[in-house]
Amino acid sequence: MQCSKKPGRIYQQSNIVIKELRRGTLMSQDPTIECYDLHFAVYDSFQFAAIPQYATSLDITAMAIERYLDPNPIIIDLGCGTGNASAEILEKVPEAKFFLIDGSASMIDAAKKKLEMNSPGAVIGAHVADLSADRWHEDLPDCDAIVSTFVLEHLDFKSYRAVLERCHEVLRPGGWLIVVEAYVEEESNMLGWFEELMEGKKSLIEDSKLADFVSMLRSKHEVHYYCSKSQKASWWREAGFDNVHVIWQYLCLGLMAGQK
Ligand SMILES: C[S@@+](CC[C@H](N)C(=O)[O-])C[C@H]1O[C@@H](n2cnc3c(N)ncnc32)[C@H](O)[C@@H]1O
Repeated sequence: MQCSKKPGRIYQQSNIVIKELRRGTLMSQDPTIECYDLHFAVYDSFQFAAIPQYATSLDITAMAIERYLDPNPIIIDLGCGTGNASAEILEKVPEAKFFLIDGSASMIDAAKKKLEMNSPGAVIGAHVADLSADRWHEDLPDCDAIVSTFVLEHLDFKSYRAVLERCHEVLRPGGWLIVVEAYVEEESNMLGWFEELMEGKKSLIEDSKLADFVSMLRSKHEVHYYCSKSQKASWWREAGFDNVHVIWQYLCLGLMAGQK
């Protein structure tokens, strides 16, 4: 495996060219965004294999959209990554339309390709934007739901609360914010338990170089900010959301919804 941070060098492992480094072409200096931008091409292989209950969490997100919204909603996928949440929603709600936002242009390109291949016309727009910056929410369509899976725990708490306020502005009255993220509760070590399970799943990935490469990137660059569900729920309410509730929980992972 080659690993270099020099511009133009290629990360290569097994038969996969991960990507040509494009340091300097990113709009953000955010280390988490950079980390994902660097491994977009192997994101799905790692994510589905290594993250406990990843597929289930997307499935239940899609179930919530199906239950809470009309059959032809406009949805913003906030931190879309390679588009897995949107793809899962389209399985259950085929008329849904999506506006994609992510800090990584490579992730957005991958998401657009995936969604357009199976559901032509489903993507109505996309922005490369850092959610920690002020103006990510400009020029967005009014929407019926904002979905965000495995993203908001990467924002510091000030940015997190600002993002909630922007989401509330962008949603139509009655619209839903539906978020999967990790929480840390006092007096429990659900995060530690989850991480142990993740280590076990990683060790089963056949392509060990892929697993090592992504693990190395994530442990070096990814930043998380954790707090409790009740703390976050109170911030959601302060941002104007009603009916704030947890739909699903697995160890430190939770799916929370709130309505404008
Ligand atoms: C763990 S991935 C989740 C992707 C997708 N939602 C999913 O469920 O597979 C985190 C995504 O959030 C994006 N991200 C992280 N911090 C961000 C920020 N401050 N602004 C915009 N995107 C961010 C990353 O680029 C990455 O695509």
